[in-house]
Amino acid sequence: MKITLLISLAAAAVLAMTDAAPINRRPHGTTNRTLRAGHAIPLTRNSNFKQNTRGHIAKLNRRYPGINILASTGNVPLTDSNPDLEYYGTVSVGTPAQDFKLDFDTGSSDIWFPSSTCTTSGCTAHAQFNSKKSSTYKKDGRPWSVSYGDGSTASGILGTDVVNVGGVSVSQTIGLATDESSQFASGPSDGLFGLGFNSLESVSGVKTFMDNAIAQGVLEQPVISVFMPSVRRNGGVGGEYLFGGIDKSRYSGDLTYVPVSQEGYWQIAIDDVGYNGQSLGQSSQGIVDTGTTLVIVSDDAAKAIHDSIQGASNDPNNGWVVPCSLKDSSDNVSFTMGGTAFNVPLADLAYEDLGDGSGNCFSGVQGGQNDLWILGDVFIKNNYCVFDQGNSQVGIAPLVY
Ligand SMILES: *[C@@H]1O[C@H](CO)[C@@H](O)[C@H](O)[C@H]1NC(C)=O
Ligand SMILES: *[C@@H]1O[C@H](CO)[C@@H](O)[C@H](O)[C@H]1NC(C)=O
Repeated sequence: MKITLLISLAAAAVLAMTDAAPINRRPHGTTNRTLRAGHAIPLTRNSNFKQNTRGHIAKLNRRYPGINILASTGNVPLTDSNPDLEYYGTVSVGTPAQDFKLDFDTGSSDIWFPSSTCTTSGCTAHAQFNSKKSSTYKKDGRPWSVSYGDGSTASGILGTDVVNVGGVSVSQTIGLATDESSQFASGPSDGLFGLGFNSLESVSGVKTFMDNAIAQGVLEQPVISVFMPSVRRNGGVGGEYLFGGIDKSRYSGDLTYVPVSQEGYWQIAIDDVGYNGQSLGQSSQGIVDTGTTLVIVSDDAAKAIHDSIQGASNDPNNGWVVPCSLKDSSDNVSFTMGGTAFNVPLADLAYEDLGDGSGNCFSGVQGGQNDLWILGDVFIKNNYCVFDQGNSQVGIAPLVY
């Protein structure tokens, strides 16, 4: 499975340096500080998006009399867990609804969470889905499994039920975990909500939530827009995944649309890396991945970036480290896509104090990904991202807090 390979590479590269650097946040242990996301945000309507919506809706309403489906946008508030390590939102499944805290992940495509029949600690620490209590549940029965780079695994069977994000519902194939490795016990979310393309589905032929939502015409626009907040900038509150709309109040200027170069991940061309506007002569294909905490680039690009930062060093145990005093810096690293340079403030490179009294922090940018770079949350919490599946492109603009 592709996701496994890529995440394995990232995790292996980083684990070689440190077992403490929070590179790949699936799954992760510490969950103490959670900040509740809150307010609803006005949604943008696009009257240009048609697609025989009425017909689809009528059909769905006949099939699922318990739910009333209208073409709309779904706004899922996000919780920022353990400062900017992982973000999750609540998703309702079945009739009547059973709620799950799911990690929305553009770097994978399966939707999965624990089944009530699962007895391993990875499952019992979390909300578990009881299919017998859902009148809309349909058995599929095919086996399903995922594995991640840190050795964690989950497996079970596929089923079908109504999945509702912020009021937008589709009938969706879901993975019900009947076995989860222990690493999942301490993670803040109950499971994953994949937002990648369907070629990454672990069971071939399964359609993603967005495939279904677009085909069934339940979204106003074929997009998911992400406002990922940061503890440093605003206390980590107000985050949202907006299914089917774009919230213009969340960014400045215009969105720059960058074509997806290969569907699977949200893969795009990164044409340059800059330091305060100065080109560092680095470029690559990369993915925009809400499911990875940091930005992970090639060894050469990581070196070029950190060579520009006074006091940065590549520590054999910790990977790239930077002075924690960068938290007060107003300098920027930038990534150029579609002709526009998007900033990541150096303040966000001072990701987490090493805690050894050295005054150094794990850098928010690490090397080790010499093929596809990963623009993870350290990038996304500075830049509003629109995952436009209908047009196979990513819209990006500087975030407004
Ligand atoms: C965890 O949260 C509790 C209650 O909010 C707090 O008292 C405690 O100090 C926290 N522990 C850590 C390790 O942050
Ligand atoms: C870094 O970016 C911010 C926001 O885009 C900008 O206000 C600031 O001037 C930039 N810093 C430098 C040194 O260019």
